[in-house]
Order: sequence, then C-alpha cells, then structure tokens
Amino acid sequence: MHLEVVADDAALGRVGADRILQARADGALHVLGVATGGTPASTYRELARRSDGRLKDVRLAALDEYVGLPAEHPGSYTSFVRRNIAEPLGIAPEHVAVPRAAAHDLEAAAALFEQQLRDAGGVDLQILGIGANGHIGFNEPGSQADSRTRAVTLAERTRQDNARFFDSPDDVPREALTQGIGTILEARRILLLASGPRKADALARAMEQPPSADCPASWLQRHPDVLVVADQAAAAAL
Ligand code: GLP
Repeated sequence: MHLEVVADDAALGRVGADRILQARADGALHVLGVATGGTPASTYRELARRSDGRLKDVRLAALDEYVGLPAEHPGSYTSFVRRNIAEPLGIAPEHVAVPRAAAHDLEAAAALFEQQLRDAGGVDLQILGIGANGHIGFNEPGSQADSRTRAVTLAERTRQDNARFFDSPDDVPREALTQGIGTILEARRILLLASGPRKADALARAMEQPPSADCPASWLQRHPDVLVVADQAAAAAL
C-alpha cells in the first residue's frame, strides 16, 4: 500500500480528483467504483468543478446500500450517488449500478449486482473510505477476505457514526447490502481516502497490522495497487 499524506480535507479532494482525472486521461478508467459518506465529498466536489464533461461516459458502481430505505430516500446511497456524483458529472442513470437493497430477495439482488459488475468489465478504480472500526463498504469487523456481495448487519458504532445523515439515530437502518471484501479486491486499482482524527487508529491498523477480519480494511494489503491518501490528522498514528 502506498501512502500520500496531505495537509487537510481540501487537499485530499484535490489529490483524489487528480488521480481520477489522470486515470481517465490515461484511458484506464471506464468503471469508477464510488464510496459514499463524508470523506470523498471533497473529491466529488472537485470533480464536479474540474471534470468538464470528461467523465460523462464513465460507468459508476456503488459499494453498498441500506436495506429498508426506498431508493428515493435522501439518506439512501442511491440518492447520494445520483446527487453528488452522477448528476454533477453528467452521467446517465442507466450507467449507475447500486446494489438493489429494496428488493425482496436480497440474495438474488446481490447476485445480480455481481453480474452487473462483471458485465461492465469490472471496476477500474475503486474509491474507498474507512470506518472508524476499520470497515470498508459495509464490511464490518469479522468480514473475511473472500466475502462477496451480501446482506450484512451494521455495527452499532457504524450506525451512530452515520446518524448525522438521518433525522434521528433511530432512523439509521440496521442492515445493508454491500460488496464483499473479495469483490472489492477485484478492482484493478484502489484509492483509499481518510480524513480527520477519528480515522487515525483504523488507518494505522489497516496499514500496519497483519491482515485480519478484525480490521477489514487490512485485507487491502493483499491488493497490488492501493494508494492511500490521508490528511495529517488521519495519518497521525502511522
Ligand atoms: C459508511 C460507508 C463507507 C464509508 C464509511 C465512512 O459506513 N458505507 O463506504 O467509507 O461510512 O464514512 P465517512 O467518510 O462519512 O466517515
């Protein structure tokens, strides 16, 4: 895993956007895997400001979606991806894949999503954030390296951390459909973004401890092409 430390969240956004636009300029970006949450927001804002139509033909694949929220709910990841990425970049709705967690049969929805990834030719560049407990996507502690897209139960800490995106903490769903670790590791390149002091411990465990299910992000050590871009606060324990 390579590490680049930047000053702050604004610099994180500039570097994140640089990497994505460079991959596109190199002809190496047809499918962009997108994370949700607060961390990549500065990167998406920079892309919206600078991409100038260059990403409009890229396909988007989301990491995860809450179970039990209608796709139109403002807190759903379907809404997040549409509002913050697809619409600002001019990407058509039919080029956006999000796990269909509103489906009755979650196992079938998971299999369909994996098929969509394969049909699109796989993810060229996967953007990731990291949870304070070391989760990636919604792969909570206990997630194994060979896990695939599946329904999972959210850790209480994750629900609390994500409560800021909902009217009330009780509104945060308890389950999600997430790409597995094995699914994520199939992306050709990975860009992990981390910002703020709350991520320092998880980032140090991810990069410095032997890979294990205790810190799912540590499985990324097994991938040959991971760039971690962290601000100084998130890199403080490295
Ligand atoms: C959520 C998402 C993750 C994201 C994480 C960190 O749980 N499922 O993909 O990386 O939160 O979010 P934030 O960047 O808001 O700290």
